[in-house]
Amino acid sequence: MFTLSLLGVLLLSHSSQSTLLGWVESPGYPSGYLPHSSMNWSRCAPRGHALSLRLLHLDLEDSQDCENDALKVFSDGGLISVLCGKRDFEELHSSVNPSLVSSSGGCLSISFHSDFSNPRRHTGFKGFYTVQDFDECEDQNNQCSQFCHNFVGGYRCSCRHGYLLADDKHTCTVSCTEDLSGQNSGDVSSPSWSGSYAENANCVSTLSVENHLQLELHFSSTFDVEQSADGECIDAVTVETPSVTLGPFCGSSPPPSPLLTHSHHVRIRFTSDGFGANRGFSLHFRTRDKVCPAVVTSHSMVTPQRAEHHQGQMVTVACDAGYVVNSQGVQTLTSQFEATCDITGTWTPGYTCEPVDCGFPDVPADGILQLVGSEPPHTQYKDQVQFNCSSKYYRLDGDDTYTCNASGEWMSADGTTELPECTAVCGQPESFFASAGRILGGQNAKLGQIPWQLLIKSPNRGGASLISDRWAVTAAHVVDGVPETSLRLYGSLVDARTSSGPGVAVLNSKRIIIHPGYTKGTHTERTNFDNDIALIRFSSRVNFGPNLLPICLPEPDRGIWENEQGTVSGWGMTEKQHKAALLKYAHISAYSLDECQRTPTTLSNKAMTFTNNMFCAGATGKDSCQGDSGGPFVLPMLSSDGGPYVLGGIVSWGPPCRSGDNKGYYTKVENYVEWIKHTMKTEDGP
Ligand code: ARG
Repeated sequence: MFTLSLLGVLLLSHSSQSTLLGWVESPGYPSGYLPHSSMNWSRCAPRGHALSLRLLHLDLEDSQDCENDALKVFSDGGLISVLCGKRDFEELHSSVNPSLVSSSGGCLSISFHSDFSNPRRHTGFKGFYTVQDFDECEDQNNQCSQFCHNFVGGYRCSCRHGYLLADDKHTCTVSCTEDLSGQNSGDVSSPSWSGSYAENANCVSTLSVENHLQLELHFSSTFDVEQSADGECIDAVTVETPSVTLGPFCGSSPPPSPLLTHSHHVRIRFTSDGFGANRGFSLHFRTRDKVCPAVVTSHSMVTPQRAEHHQGQMVTVACDAGYVVNSQGVQTLTSQFEATCDITGTWTPGYTCEPVDCGFPDVPADGILQLVGSEPPHTQYKDQVQFNCSSKYYRLDGDDTYTCNASGEWMSADGTTELPECTAVCGQPESFFASAGRILGGQNAKLGQIPWQLLIKSPNRGGASLISDRWAVTAAHVVDGVPETSLRLYGSLVDARTSSGPGVAVLNSKRIIIHPGYTKGTHTERTNFDNDIALIRFSSRVNFGPNLLPICLPEPDRGIWENEQGTVSGWGMTEKQHKAALLKYAHISAYSLDECQRTPTTLSNKAMTFTNNMFCAGATGKDSCQGDSGGPFVLPMLSSDGGPYVLGGIVSWGPPCRSGDNKGYYTKVENYVEWIKHTMKTEDGP
């Protein structure tokens, strides 16, 4: 009886809406719980409701931090209370029970346990649980911007008179959107002007007049739109036209008046947040004829200059340096155009000045000259591109950086519009040359020591020299009568018995150009080898490598002095009287003119002609020989210096090598440098 009346008091004092759901007590209650006993219990509240636990009795063994026996209460899994010892009803009612409440729609759980020993018997605990409506409006987070109304199982927001509840069902806004289309004058102001404006406003006033007119806004001097201490607009007025948005405006000084919009369509937007008490703005609008703006397009100069231009007025627009006229998205080559201010206040034609575009630089397709960087380059006025060469075997001739200039051309710092070129690095073997080998009286060359040396196997054994990535030079008599596209040259090798394999370069001829001064014909009865030089153009570019590099051409007036030492190389006849398998070289020196003019008559017993296009050279026991023809005589003598070496001569003719003369005749290359360069250029094209 006591319990029931007490319960009534409790239920009433707690909440009129409470509904008793049930009871919960410790095992063995009220006779007392046993050691090692435990229980778990959990209940949840329906949506919009909270569960609450009311303890009527608590008698557990008391211990420090309740570590022996304990009743633990959890709300939504989180511990909210740990109880032990003996508490009287008053204490439970006033300080324990009020905290044993779940969240809205949440759960309460309890866990009770006792340890092994109880010095004396404890009765345990008993309580009941109820469910009641949860008052969301009490919750600070309910988000109603004005009023909140709680009801059983939920809540609802509402607004003051003059406000509307927005779609989010929480925010109160004002209805302030108006369409003033067709009105040539009128007023627009913030809501409740000239009282304080409403919170959470988002007002749009639409003005629209005939298209030859523009709207002119006169803001009144009273202007008060909320602004933060650092000048940011908290609330704001903006003026929107189809092309620009003016504002946001806020603070205490109005926008410049009159505000010319240059548009016949204007939207005036006013926004406010949920706080503050400011007065807002007011403006009067009217119309006037549209005028054209002083600026026709950016990056240009207009003549004549006027603050504004009226309908029918004409101007000349000159684009700034580096800018050209763009008509309907197409870049023209002109930098000037005429424009007329039309009735709608627009410049016609509506051309613009756009930066000149130099386009992708005209880099040759061979891939040797390259643009630095992996991205496609920016090609507009003042943009820069940088060049380099595809390998270390080429050197960049000219500037490496080009800038897009005002005339739409790529130009280097020194004013050149022609792109730089990659020229082959010549006459510099990568392999170290240890001077120490026949040719006649010669030594074996190592791979890479004479990287310009090329081998011709047929129709006749001969040599040639690589002078660029497309050209070789040889003796005319070696290729005389050979069909242009049938010649095969081998490079990057020292062993003439190999003609294929990983390292060997096989070069096919596309053109054979014999010097026009050379008298063609069989050379058995020949007495004159004047102009014994020919150029061979390959069908494709050779890839340079450590064992395949070009030799330099000499300066046209270099000269070869008496006793000057040079190196001749080839796979020709050796003292053993047969063709060499391995590339041989020998250091020989140039003979005096007198010595050379005493031409050997032993050559098929004919008197040979010695001309200024030849020189002769040899050394004791050393000479070039049959099969070396066309091959190089380089200057200076190959040594560990590493060059650069130049092609001083081409093996041409001489007495039978074992005659003991040790005197070979060479084409004097310096006399042909102009012809060589000219021929290469004409054949390769620009
Ligand atoms: N005419 C020869 C050839 O076709 C080259 C002769 C060089 N003779 C000399 N004694 N250096 O291979």
